Parts: sequence; C-alpha cells; structure tokens
Amino acid sequence: MKRILVTGAFGLVGSDLVPELQKKFGPDSVVALARETVSSDFKGILEKGDVRDSKLMADLVKKHDIGEIYHLAGLLSAGGEKQPDLAWEINVDGLKHVLDLAKEHQLKVFWPSSIAAFGPSTPKQNVPQHTSLEPTTMYGVTKVTGELLCQYYFEKYGVDVRSLRYPGLNGYKAKPGDGTTEYAIHIFYGLVKDNYYECFLQADARLPMMYMDDAIKGTLALMAAPSEKITIRTSYNFAAISFTPEELYQEILKFAPDFKVEFKPDSRQKIAEGWPQTIDDSSARNDWGWKHEFDLPKMTQALYEGIKQKIN
Ligand code: SER
Repeated sequence: MKRILVTGAFGLVGSDLVPELQKKFGPDSVVALARETVSSDFKGILEKGDVRDSKLMADLVKKHDIGEIYHLAGLLSAGGEKQPDLAWEINVDGLKHVLDLAKEHQLKVFWPSSIAAFGPSTPKQNVPQHTSLEPTTMYGVTKVTGELLCQYYFEKYGVDVRSLRYPGLNGYKAKPGDGTTEYAIHIFYGLVKDNYYECFLQADARLPMMYMDDAIKGTLALMAAPSEKITIRTSYNFAAISFTPEELYQEILKFAPDFKVEFKPDSRQKIAEGWPQTIDDSSARNDWGWKHEFDLPKMTQALYEGIKQKIN
C-alpha cells in the first residue's frame, strides 16, 4: 500500500489525526511532516521541513511512495493577521504545491477549509452550502482561494481533492493554536491551572464548534467515501454544535462551581463577529452520511479530563 503524508502533523488536527491513521493503516503507512514542533513521544516515520519548499515536497512523495496527502499545515485566523504574508505563502502556495504533486502523481488529497471562509455578508444562521464568501481576514482569504483552487484542480485535472469547512475544533492532544475559536480550549487550561480564565471574546460570541473526535471521524469518513458521492469539490459545510463563551462557562460551573471567568474581548472579537453562528451541513449529511456525536456537556467533560491529565 502506498503511504499517507500528513503535513502540519503536530498541529491541532494532526496531533489527533496521525495516531488514528496509524491505527487504521499501520504505523509504517503514515509519514508525519513537521516544520518545527514535534511531540517528544512520537513514534512513527518523521520528516522535518516546510510546505513552502516545493522540491522537498516532491522528494518526500517519491522517497516514501506517497499515495495520499492530508495537507493540514496552515496559519490560523489570529496568527494570519499578525503575519499575513506568511499566511498566504503557507496556506496558498503550500496548497498549490500539494495540488501540483497530486496532479503529477495521481494523489488523493484532504485539505481543511474553515468557517473563516465566510464573512460579514454571509447569513449568520444556518449558512447554506452555497453562499456569499467575502471574508475580512487573511486566513479567510486564503481559505476561499484554496477552495477555488481545489475545485479547479478537480474539474481541470481530475485531482481527487476533498475538503471540509472546519468549525472551531476543540481537542486536548495539541496545544491550542493562534485562532479565534481556541478560547474554548484555553479556558480548560485556565480552569485546571488557576481556577481563573480571562476570555478574549465577549460572553455572547456564539460560534460553530466541534469536539475533535467528531472532526477526525468526519475527515476519515469523507476520505473513505466513494468518489461519486462527493458532490462538493470546493469544501463541505461541516457542523456539530454552536455555543457562546458564557454557555461553556455555565457548563463548567456545573462541576467546578468556584471557577471564575472574566470577559475582556480583544481584536479576536471582531474576527468572531465576521463569522456565522450556525451552519447548514445537510450536503455532508446526505452525501456521505456525516453525523456528530458530541454535544456541549459531552465535549466539556472530555476536554476537562484530557487537559487535566495532560497538565498533571
Ligand atoms: N479555529 C480557527 C480559528 O479560530 C477557525 O478555523 O482561527
């Protein structure tokens, strides 16, 4: 069997996806590519390098006989505002390198888009699959560009590239990244370490969210679906739950009644205000059977237990 390459292998999604792929296809079938961060207990095939380096990427595909790429390397919304040029290079140029390799070597590709592809002109509730995509962050701009590139490579060259518009993903294996939805992970570090958290979003900033196990399950289901079931080649709307910081706080108070949260919104609040609150993901549900499992209470328990164990 040809091997699977995962870029951004130690990021928020990669840290959960790589072990799942290793479990499903065998540890020898997965190549983890990292730019800087590598977890010290990683076991498996590891490569160091940058997705902006097209020669390195081409060499890796040949060296490891790659047949599939999960291209997860990317800057998030808040990080992208700090370094917009870098966000473009990694998020767009990096994706183009992957798609060019996919065209040359008939690789199957997964690439994540995001709710950040939406913008202030998108409806706030139940966003349909086909809607206005006018984001105001560089991250969002790179996601819309990437979605169109994916569709173009599918239509023009037959590249089997599949994509999901990830909502805020909440897991505990990786450190939370430089995103806007990541308060929902940081809050648990505050809870376990200090019994206090200063939230950078307003109490009522409702955003689409998902527990990481659901995201991994959905990603693998999308990639396993027969090609004729995939009707969207830009990126699928993909949803589970939506909640506000206040609602998450109230959920935590049920088992940690002394926990204190203060709301001190910063520039990330404006990013959140540009995004929708709920998403209509019926295309994913109808086309390839997407279904989430984790609601807010279940996600809260899983994150609390996971982060407590990680810290202690
Ligand atoms: N989690 C991402 C962010 O907040 C959204 O895709 O940047």
